[in-house]
Amino acid sequence: MSGKTLNMTSALLNYLVDTSSREDKLLHALRIETAEDEYANMQIAPEQGQFLNLLVKLIGARKAIEVGTFTGYSSICIANALPSDGRLICCDVSDEWTSIARRYWCLAGLSERIDLKLAPALETLQGLLDQGQARTFDFAFIDADKENYDGYYEACLRLLRPGGLIAVDNVLWGGKVADPTVQDVDTRAIRALNKKMQSDKRIDYAMVPIADGVSLAVKR
Ligand SMILES: C[S@@+](CC[C@H](N)C(=O)[O-])C[C@H]1O[C@@H](n2cnc3c(N)ncnc32)[C@H](O)[C@@H]1O
Repeated sequence: MSGKTLNMTSALLNYLVDTSSREDKLLHALRIETAEDEYANMQIAPEQGQFLNLLVKLIGARKAIEVGTFTGYSSICIANALPSDGRLICCDVSDEWTSIARRYWCLAGLSERIDLKLAPALETLQGLLDQGQARTFDFAFIDADKENYDGYYEACLRLLRPGGLIAVDNVLWGGKVADPTVQDVDTRAIRALNKKMQSDKRIDYAMVPIADGVSLAVKR
């Protein structure tokens, strides 16, 4: 009876979250605080955070990078899954939003594990490549401005070791990717990357319909 992915009704989504969420008090508090922000919907869903945490543990990642940190929800899910001597590099341009993230990293005891780079992420990623850090990362999460998604994907792919994993967020973009009347820059950029990843021989790949859609790519 499972030839296709289930249509997710609100009742079913509530059930999924109620019966599977392990969101702790700190992440819950961060979600509540972020809800006050007019851009709160940029934060990843709790079930997605739990999924990222599981993936990072599954591949035994020690060195990770996040492109798009906002108030820190996904970074905590990722950093919590790293060993105590693991490292997460966070890329963002907003001092205001990441000051909230820094406060929660401190409360979570994760400050030592996380290195925030406040600069356009393409510059940060290129800087890491220039420093000779290609093929040294185990995990990358891409969740910043959509226009630059292809650039983030290409740079992260170079930074990843073979067998490393990239997770790309918002690949279903609220359903807009499947609506041909929507032709804005962000939607077109996501569509283009989705298409590219489908036939990209450098990766093994799956698109997962969790939250706003997450593409997973393992570097060959
Ligand atoms: C969707 S939010 C990230 C959400 C975050 N992953 C979470 O779990 O809450 C996107 C973030 O990307 C950042 N951003 C936008 N353009 C950027 C750029 N060129 N370089 C780095 N970060 C950027 C924004 O400041 C914002 O915090």
